[in-house]
Amino acid sequence: MRVSVVGLGYVGLVTAASLAEWGNQVVGIEASEARLSALRDGRMPIFEPGLDEVVQRNRESGRLQFAGPDAMSRAVHRADIVMVAVGTHDGHGGWQTDTISSTLDALVPMLGAGTTLVVRSTLPPEYVASLASYVEARAGENSGPVPTILNPEFMREGSALHDFMQPDRVVIGLVSDETGLGQRALAELYAPSSAPMVVLPALDASVGKLAANLFLATKISFANELAGICDSYGATIDNVVASMTYDKRIGTGFLRPGVGFGGSCLPHQVAMTLLDAQSREVHAPLLAAVKQINEFQPRRVLLALNRMLSGLHDARVALLGLTFKPDTDDLREAPSLRIAQHLLDAGARVVAYDPMPAARSSAVEQVPGLDVAESPMAAMRDAHAVVLATEWSVFRELDWLAAANIVRNPLMVDGRGALDAAAMTEAGWTYHAFGRGTHQPVTRSESVMVNVQNASAAIAHAEGALDGGHTR
Ligand SMILES: NC(=O)c1ccc[n+]([C@@H]2O[C@H](COP(=O)([O-])OP(=O)(O)OC[C@H]3O[C@@H](n4cnc5c(N)ncnc54)[C@H](O)[C@@H]3O)[C@@H](O)[C@H]2O)c1
Repeated sequence: MRVSVVGLGYVGLVTAASLAEWGNQVVGIEASEARLSALRDGRMPIFEPGLDEVVQRNRESGRLQFAGPDAMSRAVHRADIVMVAVGTHDGHGGWQTDTISSTLDALVPMLGAGTTLVVRSTLPPEYVASLASYVEARAGENSGPVPTILNPEFMREGSALHDFMQPDRVVIGLVSDETGLGQRALAELYAPSSAPMVVLPALDASVGKLAANLFLATKISFANELAGICDSYGATIDNVVASMTYDKRIGTGFLRPGVGFGGSCLPHQVAMTLLDAQSREVHAPLLAAVKQINEFQPRRVLLALNRMLSGLHDARVALLGLTFKPDTDDLREAPSLRIAQHLLDAGARVVAYDPMPAARSSAVEQVPGLDVAESPMAAMRDAHAVVLATEWSVFRELDWLAAANIVRNPLMVDGRGALDAAAMTEAGWTYHAFGRGTHQPVTRSESVMVNVQNASAAIAHAEGALDGGHTR
């Protein structure tokens, strides 16, 4: 099929490359000149495992081309399907629909008769409710009604190619498709995936997409709360979760405690749905708790460090991992940045390392005062304590015995429970991870911090509430 993909970010580029890999003729259209020229020069503007090989292979075969918005008219006019994957996040935790609206303003009048318009961007449900009339009002005179489908994206950064090509389901939200042309086009497009197709009214598809993310966020916050309960009993969360997940009703995945969820999807969609629920006078205490637990997780790291070091002022802390998850260069809403900011506010010096050079330079811009190092060992040299914030495999493979000899104190808060507790102890580390019986539960006085917004005040409060010997 002839497909155009508008917007070549994490979603659009993976979509374009995967569709070309399936044998389609794909033109990817990108507005950012920097992104476009990188792609044309054979450089990937984002990091996604395996993506560079797939892009290169399909460019060489001529199935994948890149173009700027000036070539949009030619690219989309004769396409069978035009997919829109532009951003809908305002960068400050809110929705923004100006980009998709202006993209549709330019794009829809160019569509030829028989072209299906597919929206892959995640949209606020209110916007979806008005999408059919928005497109209809902009359709060109010669195109007739434009078959319009919402096709939400469920990929995970870090395994996006796999998730696109072998999805658990393909959701088709019918915005307007009187003749069924759009639905048939997408059935043909996704035939290589063999995934079940779930065909729904567009509004249900959009709320379903949000609900999937809200549920995943809920599972993570549940695991984070459960970790505190495990710590209070001295139980080990890995064993507790393993015993739970034999029950098929519970399901595996997203039940590991950590420093909180980040990225462009989960925090934003939890916050936005909550805000919408409040404005619609819908009682949503569960979502409020999910958000509150998530926002508290970076502070848990501070509490653990504060206990171990008896105060954070002038402490040198090594922060391992910056991206919101491993195998991506995406720093959006990364909990590491909050941890770094809270530590700096408490008077600590923070030296971070992440395997992604782009993440290191972007983190320095986003968190003034943060230092970065070129290797994990350089970050850890002379550190009073180490925090692992992202579970990159390179950290699992480090020589922790050697690392114990270059830090000032071999104190580790493993915020992702990624390392082997027994091996770390054997290598000389005082090792703390949430829910592994190695991390003390939050005390009643510390729990006040949940409602404390100011990090310095929170730390002062925690310092006042805690006792324990100095370790540095
Ligand atoms: N990142 C994820 O893991 C993920 C997962 C599921 C859904 N989503 C959703 O998919 C959408 C895209 O997310 P993303 O992370 O890829 O965003 P992104 O910001 O990384 O990429 C969007 C791209 O679109 C380009 N663009 C904007 N307007 C354009 C136009 N008129 N013509 C051509 N290019 C244009 C931008 O320059 C940018 O490169 C969002 O709605 C997001 O919520 C993202």
